[in-house]
Amino acid sequence: MSNSRTPFVDRFGPDAADVEFGGDAPSLLSQLAARGSVRKFRPDTVPYLTLRRLCALALCAPTKSDLQQRDIIIIDAPSLKSRIGALLADGPLGQKWLANVPNLLIFCGNNRRQRRIHTLRDRHFANDHLDAFFNAAVDAAIALSAFVIAAEAEGLGVCPISAVRIHSDALSELLKLPDHVFPVAGLAMGYPAEAPQLSMRLPLSVTVHHNTFI
Ligand SMILES: Cc1cc2nc3c(=O)[nH]c(=O)nc-3n(C[C@H](O)[C@H](O)[C@H](O)COP(=O)(O)O)c2cc1C
Repeated sequence: MSNSRTPFVDRFGPDAADVEFGGDAPSLLSQLAARGSVRKFRPDTVPYLTLRRLCALALCAPTKSDLQQRDIIIIDAPSLKSRIGALLADGPLGQKWLANVPNLLIFCGNNRRQRRIHTLRDRHFANDHLDAFFNAAVDAAIALSAFVIAAEAEGLGVCPISAVRIHSDALSELLKLPDHVFPVAGLAMGYPAEAPQLSMRLPLSVTVHHNTFI
């Protein structure tokens, strides 16, 4: 972009004035620079096959040691979806807008597969420490991020939902999550009913470090 006010200045402030796109940059990049979460949707739902495509794209993202310790649950059974919506919307920490979003997905960390492979091969699972949670949670977050980028590139609106963690026991029961599979984040999505707002970020001088932290 050649105009003096790049989307990066709007986002990060004046110290991002040197950050620009080349003239032949893919449009995905300018879309990413201007992206924002959406919390108001048209009532129609995104087709299941579109969701499957987005899941496939999300699961093309990097995954630690190719262990693929993340799963995505597409929730479209009406009674299940409304029970989860109520869980997220009710109570003092409830978010009312989640009561009836068109589409809802849950991104889970899954350390179960790795444990099962060890059992099948009759091997002791040596990494039964923070890694079992950390690697699976990071894998799930990376898949969530890739899904967000792909969905927004398709013109869909999305908003990640950490509130699922407040209800992890109830959610695990509703979704029949086995041991060592845990919800990392939900994703509310649909066709946007309004354009996303650009929210500012801390200046790059605060969050991007060069060689050393200080
Ligand atoms: C892991 C994660 C959990 C989030 N949980 C919620 C949530 O429960 N409710 C909500 O309204 N937004 C949630 N958000 C959206 C953030 O509030 C949003 O990304 C942030 O305010 C920046 O805005 P932007 O996405 O429009 O740039 C979450 C985002 C992430 C990455």
